[in-house]
Amino acid sequence: MKKRFNDKMALPLRLGYTIQHRRPVLAGAVLSTATNAFAPNPTLRVKKWSSGIGTPRRLVLGFGALFLGQFMSMADRPGQSFLASARQQGASSVEQVLRNVEWPEQFPFKEEDFQRFDESPDSLFYETPRFVTHIDDPAIAALTKYYSKVFPPSNTPGISLLDLCSSWVSHFPAGYQQERIVGMGMNEEELKRNPVLTEYVVQDLNFRPKLPFEDNSFDIITNVVSVDYLTKPFDVFKEMCRVLKPGGLAIMSFSNRCFWTKAISIWTSTGDADHVLIVGSYFHYAGGFEPPQAVDISPNPGRSDPMYIVHSRKVATG
Ligand SMILES: C[S@@+](CC[C@H](N)C(=O)[O-])C[C@H]1O[C@@H](n2cnc3c(N)ncnc32)[C@H](O)[C@@H]1O
Repeated sequence: MKKRFNDKMALPLRLGYTIQHRRPVLAGAVLSTATNAFAPNPTLRVKKWSSGIGTPRRLVLGFGALFLGQFMSMADRPGQSFLASARQQGASSVEQVLRNVEWPEQFPFKEEDFQRFDESPDSLFYETPRFVTHIDDPAIAALTKYYSKVFPPSNTPGISLLDLCSSWVSHFPAGYQQERIVGMGMNEEELKRNPVLTEYVVQDLNFRPKLPFEDNSFDIITNVVSVDYLTKPFDVFKEMCRVLKPGGLAIMSFSNRCFWTKAISIWTSTGDADHVLIVGSYFHYAGGFEPPQAVDISPNPGRSDPMYIVHSRKVATG
């Protein structure tokens, strides 16, 4: 897969871009410590399904740096590399990625970027419930803390939330409630068990990206560690914009783990900073969103799972 970009890899070298880069961990799931009759093996405690590929390593960016080289406006910092500028500003490089992006006019991805190693129907892969968590506890805690800062207070009249690619957990603050919290996912048993949901929909978004909701229905849309499984993100993000209320907030969060065979090739062949740019581009090209922003909420960099947010609001006048 990387071969395709080999001709462009000279570019990052010329520009001097290197990045502390983590490639996705294969099949990232952490078996829950919760006692659960449906767990694949309830006697197992915490076990990471990692292959060791997730070890941080220093790589020269291929496609990612090509992205950065093309998209980042360096006009205000002539002669400096992207990372040098980011370090001087004291911010996480991941948080810098979406600043001053000059997006190409056309959606810059090709069909093959959204292909997966396993192209069998997703309904097969998600047929059996997985009562597991897919990131470690500190990463979950960081996400929940982030939600508690940006979500409307619990039980605010008229507030509706949609958790896309949901399962038996949404990582919302403890006891969080709203009139309407919809979960959409692939496995009904998982969704049924999710205590925060007031309703759920089982739907394969790669087969049917249209969201079964009225325009302007939701105040918040979340998607936790699953944006990388969407093979039609452009369509899904357009739909997200349609069903969000004006000013509504979409929060995409992800780490460096994934079910590698089910993640799109552009994701498995790139690293964290690239993922931020990829998700940012979905918002940008879907249209109707404010410029996307990235937040690095990684709780203990280098020690526990990293956690990144790319968020955007539907334009208020849309
Ligand atoms: C890694 S799990 C994450 C689940 C949950 N968001 C969490 O944080 O634990 C990936 C989720 O994406 C959902 N998913 C994967 N492919 C999907 C598809 N084609 N359409 C809709 N949902 C999908 C699955 O239902 C699954 O729950």
